[in-house]
Amino acid sequence: MRFDDELFNYVLGAAKEFENGLDDNPVVPSADNIKAIEIFDEPLPKGKTKALDVIELLHEVGTPATTLSRGGRFFGFVVGGTLPVAVASSWSTTTWDQNPALTMLGYVNAKLEQVSQKWIVELLELPKTSAVGFVTGATMAGFTALSSARHRIYKNLGYDLKVGGLRNAPKIRFIISEDIHATNIRALNYMGYGTDEFEFVPVDKQGRVIVDQMPALDSRCIILIQAGNINSGAFDDFPAICELAKKAGAWVHVDGAFGGWLKVSKTRSHLVKGMEQADSWSIDCHKWLNVPYDSAIAICRDREAMIETFTISASYLTTDGDRIPNNFTPELSRRARGVDVWAALKHLGQDGFGELIDRCSDHAKWFSGALDKIGFTIMNDVVINQVVFCLDDNDDARLKDIMDKVALSGKAWFGPTRWHGRDVYRMSISSHETTKADLDVALEAIKEAMEE
Ligand SMILES: Cc1ncc(COP(=O)(O)O)c(C=O)c1O
Repeated sequence: MRFDDELFNYVLGAAKEFENGLDDNPVVPSADNIKAIEIFDEPLPKGKTKALDVIELLHEVGTPATTLSRGGRFFGFVVGGTLPVAVASSWSTTTWDQNPALTMLGYVNAKLEQVSQKWIVELLELPKTSAVGFVTGATMAGFTALSSARHRIYKNLGYDLKVGGLRNAPKIRFIISEDIHATNIRALNYMGYGTDEFEFVPVDKQGRVIVDQMPALDSRCIILIQAGNINSGAFDDFPAICELAKKAGAWVHVDGAFGGWLKVSKTRSHLVKGMEQADSWSIDCHKWLNVPYDSAIAICRDREAMIETFTISASYLTTDGDRIPNNFTPELSRRARGVDVWAALKHLGQDGFGELIDRCSDHAKWFSGALDKIGFTIMNDVVINQVVFCLDDNDDARLKDIMDKVALSGKAWFGPTRWHGRDVYRMSISSHETTKADLDVALEAIKEAMEE
């Protein structure tokens, strides 16, 4: 069975129709359109359905029920958009159906992972020999980097985890920002550790680790800090923390799911000063690099630790090529996601990527100023693309009412959050689609909701 012209042309048309609706369709689908997806819940078909009919159903029912999170007026979570070049590259790799587990199963992917690794390390000014693994998201990037950190610590202690197992292992200490993104805790849970074992370090009002309150460190410590707090966008004090860690021989891991890219900014790279002194980093590509899901990178200064943690050998697995991609990731078979990373970086270039980061951050700054003028209080220092806000009168119930009305208008969507013990709202701008005109529409929607 091959792609026939009818199917190929239909899917192209459907994609175009979706794209054309990005500016005018409601940001969040209507209740009726969400209800319509119930049609998928049918008994398992016994016979065949023509491919075109399957895709027609998907488009006719699925497209109206999409949340336009890749569009210019979705400001919830930190989701990014997707660049046309990366959508196109992902179509190509899906059509090729390459498995990047092994070089010979995907020569192009292995080469483009190698090239992307070189470019990323250069872009972020990290040690040249750093290893980069291409994984599904920042959660798994954290798991990958932290597992490599653990391997190094045990190896230094002469303990082989793969043989002795976790129950017999020496104790490792985890020193963790109190405001760390929850997925890091999940990653440590996957690794077999629980919260009772963690030493949490208090944070300041922006969610930055208070360095003076770090415990005494030693060479069995893994420290988890952040480049880009999920609410405020704040950055930890990398030079001070890395200096303490270096003296003690501890490992520093930076969760930079979105803020990890700030080095490319022309105006804000000072925020990540010293980040390169850490030992490992987890960064999403499906957020601010604007490639399709699922895509993130785990980077380790200690290349050997990463390779020793993840290498799989089996009698039938070939080991040709300069880079055996599965040596850097928890999975064996996976999607050729390195190709999309290469396509986005090649398309944007260092300058274009920097402009994307700065444009989103400038928009956030402008919008926070505009909110401030119409009765809102900005609760964070707006340093990058994140804005946390409440009403001047601190009426959080009225705030929710206003933001619900904005969501219902279909013109924009802002996400609720809990910040400093309050139920407030948060804006994140991380899509290349967001323009000043989008901000105007969103602001108008808020004003209208306030007047209602
Ligand atoms: C700071 C931070 N860390 C980790 C994650 C988890 O990323 P992912 O959903 O790609 O696994 C996120 C996602 O929002 C994040 O913002």
